[in-house]
Amino acid sequence: MKKLGVLLALLLFISISSNAQTQTSSSPNGKVNLSFTLLNGKASYSLTYKGKQVIEESSLGFKIKDMPDFGNSFTVISSDKKSISDSWEPVWGEVKKIENNYNELAITLRDNATKPHVLRIVFKVYNDGVGFRYEFPQQENLFHFIIEEELTSFNLSGDHKIWWIPGDFDTNEYAYYTSKISEIAQMAKKRDGAIFTATPISGAFVQTPLMIKSADGIYMNIHEAALINYPCMDLKFDVGTFDATTALAPDAVGNLAYMRAPTHTPWRTIVVSDDAREIIGSKMILNLNEPSKIKDPSFIKPMKYVGIWLEMHLGVSTWDYAGQQSASDATSDGKAKTKVKHGATTENTKKYIDFAAENGFGGVLVEGWNAGWEDWFGQWKEDVFDFVTPYPDYDVKGLNQYARSKGVGIITHLETSGSATNFERYMDTAYRQMAYYGSPAFKSGYVGKIIPRGEYHDGQWMINHYNRSISKAADYGLMAVIHEPVRPTGLHRTYPNFMAAEAARGQEFNFWSEGNPPEHETILPFTRLMGGPMDYTPGIFKIKKSYYVPGAKEQVHTTLSKQLALYLTLYSPVQMVTDLPENYLAKKDAFQFIKDVAVDWDDTKILLAEPGDFLAIARKAKGTNNWFVGGITDENARTLTVDFSFLDKGKKYELTVYKDAPDASWDENPEAYVIEKITITNKTKLKVNLARGGGFAMSVFMK
Ligand code: NOJ
Ligand code: CA
Repeated sequence: MKKLGVLLALLLFISISSNAQTQTSSSPNGKVNLSFTLLNGKASYSLTYKGKQVIEESSLGFKIKDMPDFGNSFTVISSDKKSISDSWEPVWGEVKKIENNYNELAITLRDNATKPHVLRIVFKVYNDGVGFRYEFPQQENLFHFIIEEELTSFNLSGDHKIWWIPGDFDTNEYAYYTSKISEIAQMAKKRDGAIFTATPISGAFVQTPLMIKSADGIYMNIHEAALINYPCMDLKFDVGTFDATTALAPDAVGNLAYMRAPTHTPWRTIVVSDDAREIIGSKMILNLNEPSKIKDPSFIKPMKYVGIWLEMHLGVSTWDYAGQQSASDATSDGKAKTKVKHGATTENTKKYIDFAAENGFGGVLVEGWNAGWEDWFGQWKEDVFDFVTPYPDYDVKGLNQYARSKGVGIITHLETSGSATNFERYMDTAYRQMAYYGSPAFKSGYVGKIIPRGEYHDGQWMINHYNRSISKAADYGLMAVIHEPVRPTGLHRTYPNFMAAEAARGQEFNFWSEGNPPEHETILPFTRLMGGPMDYTPGIFKIKKSYYVPGAKEQVHTTLSKQLALYLTLYSPVQMVTDLPENYLAKKDAFQFIKDVAVDWDDTKILLAEPGDFLAIARKAKGTNNWFVGGITDENARTLTVDFSFLDKGKKYELTVYKDAPDASWDENPEAYVIEKITITNKTKLKVNLARGGGFAMSVFMK
């Protein structure tokens, strides 16, 4: 009997193993290993890093609507391998040249339906992770179809530590949670109320980019690349497991994605390393996007910009003409706001243009210049803005002319209040007007519930809308910055006029809510910024709101030096010089750093990094021998040592350090800083003390 049992087990083993087909592919350096397995007609994958299992067997595939036989039993009809080793130069970026080296494994599957379907899964295995996508080739039995469920999962190897925001198809403007995977559902019950349009999903749902750290020190980041004509992917952990399954944003009638073969999905990405610095330094997501479609990118210019913006967030001026609409109607202790006036007047805009010109900033953002703000907020109204009609006290033509005569461009604000249909209706007219008057860039925004009603910010319809707004902008020679869109997925490689997005909780929350905790900016590079630059709006010098509104409790959870560091640690080719001009003029020595710091780079070195704790990044300004360094900490004071071995050997550099004063801290003494100048070489190692919630910034000029 016992023998029979052994024999049966052996037979079973043989039948399973003969049934299982495994194909593998390794990264060029051999550290990342991908396995694809087909067992009993079902496809799965797993991943190891330096021999350790980091993704256990995880499912692949789809349920297709009204096609129950799709993928019910796959067989491999071919598998192809190739190796790619090349490089490319971005129009702007963190480095001059990007290496693109990977090994590809492409598996073609056919199911055994009466009318069979074909699915291709392409894996690209890089030294810093793996990207894979599904391709639906042209075929007889699959043409138009609707995705009912994407079965892709990421089966993590343990109850890892993760940095996450709650699953939500309408917003990503949450503060981050740090917890074990097993704690998500419990923690997600505490939501932040200051978000305008939140539709959180209950349960263990999280958004990507999801940052992960295992107990044995392996870092991973799960996200997606090249999100085009498909909904955004959130992740759902099944209770009691560490297996995250894809949750796609549905449309107004509950469908996920409308497809037509030949087509493909975005790439699913897993960046992996045992060095946290390599996660931030990874260029895999960019590499997985298509090369630039913009033939003449000469209109695309990275820049620093000032703007009529903070005034409204502080509640000292308004977006609307009549003086009603600002972001802060009252302070946290209920006191009414101080006297208000319309911000975007011709006179005020000129003041900002002059300030930008005097200090070498390329742009002036103007919000509240156009009619519609009277009923923009919370109405779910379709026809609020026409994006072209100015208020009577704003001279569009004259101001654009004045700005251009001073070498400055007006960044035109196009708030949609969520009415994407209205923006689509007026897009050509609005872009044409901007191009005609010479406004080089716009900032669009989606505060509010989306119209078409029932659509989410992250659904397929809106993904297509954002992408149309970018590609059409390129046709008009315009640069785009988008607030409240889906989080980016590296599309700025394909459309380098897509300069930055918000798509996370920005600085603005500090002015009218409990704000962002001091750790926030140490997490963003590992999460939101994995997909692309963020328009965070750094550079606040007046840290406490009580300066403007007596009794106000709101403040930026930072020291002044940390605000300088953010120009390095939160990468973007457009960076706002956010504070009011008078606050900069009151501290000209610290302001000098913002005037000096570059926004486009030949090289970047991630010097020190740990998600949620600290970060130090050095960047070499494009076309120069000058470097800038920024370092930040969370709520803990700490000492960071900057090793300058990245500098040229045998050269001398003048280093200016902007750092927290010994008695500085984000809560008690946030504006105290000291500035020191010394001469250094590539042998220098410098210890810097960072205050609680503090940071430092350095300019390093070759002598
Ligand atoms: C929210 C955006 O993030 C902010 O920058 C803008 O000022 C307001 N919406 C008004 O459009
Ligand atoms: Ca926002």
